[in-house]
Amino acid sequence: MSKRVLSCIQPTGDIHFGNYFGAVKNWVSLQDQYNCMYGVVDYHAMTMPYNPKKLKENTWELVYNLLAVGVKAENLFIQSLIPEHAELGWIFNNFASYGRVENMTQFKDKSKQSSQGKEGFISVGLYDYPVLQAADILIYRADFVPVGEDQKQHLELTKEIANRFNNQVGKEYFVLPEMLRTETPKIMSTADPTRKMSKSAGEKHNISIFADEKRLRKQIGSAVTDSGEPTSEMSPGLANLFQLLKAANNLTAHDEQMAAYTSGALKYSELKGIVADTLVGLNREFVEKKEAITADKKAIKNQIKASSAEIRKRAQATIREVKDLCGLSNVKF
Ligand code: TYM
Repeated sequence: MSKRVLSCIQPTGDIHFGNYFGAVKNWVSLQDQYNCMYGVVDYHAMTMPYNPKKLKENTWELVYNLLAVGVKAENLFIQSLIPEHAELGWIFNNFASYGRVENMTQFKDKSKQSSQGKEGFISVGLYDYPVLQAADILIYRADFVPVGEDQKQHLELTKEIANRFNNQVGKEYFVLPEMLRTETPKIMSTADPTRKMSKSAGEKHNISIFADEKRLRKQIGSAVTDSGEPTSEMSPGLANLFQLLKAANNLTAHDEQMAAYTSGALKYSELKGIVADTLVGLNREFVEKKEAITADKKAIKNQIKASSAEIRKRAQATIREVKDLCGLSNVKF
């Protein structure tokens, strides 16, 4: 049987080039080789202050966007259509170490953001988020998890939970999943290349792959670089622009510009122009595909509800076995 691949993305906004080059591009290519499941994780998107109407809109928008970049409908599910994720999340709360969860850097970053918000509110959900993530992965007994570098810690926690569970029930029930990285697992913000490109950090810190062309060019044009003074190491801003060229597979331009950098002849405006042209090329393809796909939204919604119901059967099978192993009661279904 072919190996299983699982990954997810939060419906908190558009797919940005960090999501795409760090993970989603890989999701698409892995579909030819493996048994893939990809989730739009709306339960996760409730962990920060949010608007219910917007959550529903963002969820479907993300579904359309993922289909437009090449994710197959039969591999795609919406997390809240498979409530067993939350059930396994609760069970896993009892196998996850409080101290380890407390140490997750994403929780530290996001709780800081939340506490600076209007209400200064930090939810238990935000703290518990990585345990639900472990459930997302292990409920399908996934062998591989294609994600960006920022998810490394969550993957390690997932393995710890799986190990503790296996030890406690005295059976190697859960497979320990492996993280799959792309060549560019961490794309930085063009507005502040010392931090990762991210939706939650605010508009200027991410570039949507469906962005309006003018906005995309403007964001690349104003990318932070450096003063141009020779330094022993390439600045993070320049390195990020080179990374974007490489990730978009414009290797000829990448190598030419790198040669110019090495010889001291690099013109920053020229490099930015090439990066912008390259990304706009991709962006146009995505926008066109999305237009075609969204011509019949109703059909897509039905398709995704059906694929979620199909994928749910696998989650239900796991939950049934897990409940038996943990001494919980099962209803026959
Ligand atoms: P999310 O929604 O923040 O991001 C989706 C995917 O994009 C990757 N990514 C990046 N890669 C490179 N550079 C960046 N700047 C960048 N920003 C984001 C992320 O690593 C991720 O692969 N916790 C997850 C969602 C999740 C999940 C899961 C992932 C929930 N359950 C189970 C895998 C398996 C998250 O917030 O991703």
